[in-house]
Amino acid sequence: MPDSIVILGVFVADTAYRAERPPRMGETIMGSSFALGPGGKGSNQAVAAARAGGKVHFVSKLGKDTFADMALKTWKDAGVIAAVTQHDDSYTGAAYIFIEESSGNNAIIICPGIAGTISPEDIEAQADLIAGAKVFITQLEQPLPAARRALEIARSGGAITVLNPAPAAEIAPEMLALCDYVTPNETEAEELTGIRVSGLEDARKAAEDLRQRGVGTAIITLGENGVLFHDGQRTEHVPAIFAGPVVETTGAGDAFNGGFAAALSRGSAPIDAVRFGCATAGISVTRAGTAPSMPTLAEIEALLARN
Ligand code: RIB
Repeated sequence: MPDSIVILGVFVADTAYRAERPPRMGETIMGSSFALGPGGKGSNQAVAAARAGGKVHFVSKLGKDTFADMALKTWKDAGVIAAVTQHDDSYTGAAYIFIEESSGNNAIIICPGIAGTISPEDIEAQADLIAGAKVFITQLEQPLPAARRALEIARSGGAITVLNPAPAAEIAPEMLALCDYVTPNETEAEELTGIRVSGLEDARKAAEDLRQRGVGTAIITLGENGVLFHDGQRTEHVPAIFAGPVVETTGAGDAFNGGFAAALSRGSAPIDAVRFGCATAGISVTRAGTAPSMPTLAEIEALLARN
């Protein structure tokens, strides 16, 4: 599998509610719309990478229920190869997503269900697949020990390793040192470094702090302000790529990571892969939903050609 991408992560069903504001405790408010669709950061990244032309394997656990059926159909449609076990002693997870009507911004609660039990032993069972990857990527919606074991196996097999540290968590320096790339957003970068990120100079400081903790290259995603890339030799600001009016920002980070991984797997230079990730995210925010908003390779290339 010379150019394969292996992604460890979680699938959940996204239940997305649009409203002017979130309800206060004890309050009921009227929303303007509801949508049910495929989500979960790892699964979204797998869909993004596959639609962007990558050969993607997704490692996870599902229940045996309606949401599991949704996951299997989502991966089949996107061309993601599932390295997944199904269990009837727990459920496939779900996420509550509040989307603010005026901005398209979101707040999320996720319950990973059975994927919250992914263990280092589960990872060992997929060791050959992970070790054979060209690019390995994970996030932190499944337990940290599983992510760490997978990074160890990927690193020992010679894969390019990417950690998208979302949701934010405390990560040991030994685990950060397993990562060629770490891709936090501003909030996650602050959680990891203690440096409040509210501009490019803060982002550069946080990126350098991550490098001092053992990370190869820090890529801090800054929403509409693009991305800060810092590999120790050079620091580069890659602006966001505008593809149209913003409908929903949920899943934009996943679009970036999936696009970035797809480009890396084809041998793109890291900074070109970042630009490809920005274009992927730029298109995804113009559409509703998370996995359903991921663009095709042709759409991404057309946007890049115009910019
Ligand atoms: O990054 C967006 C994703 O985070 C959503 O799809 C939701 O499921 C949560 O996992």
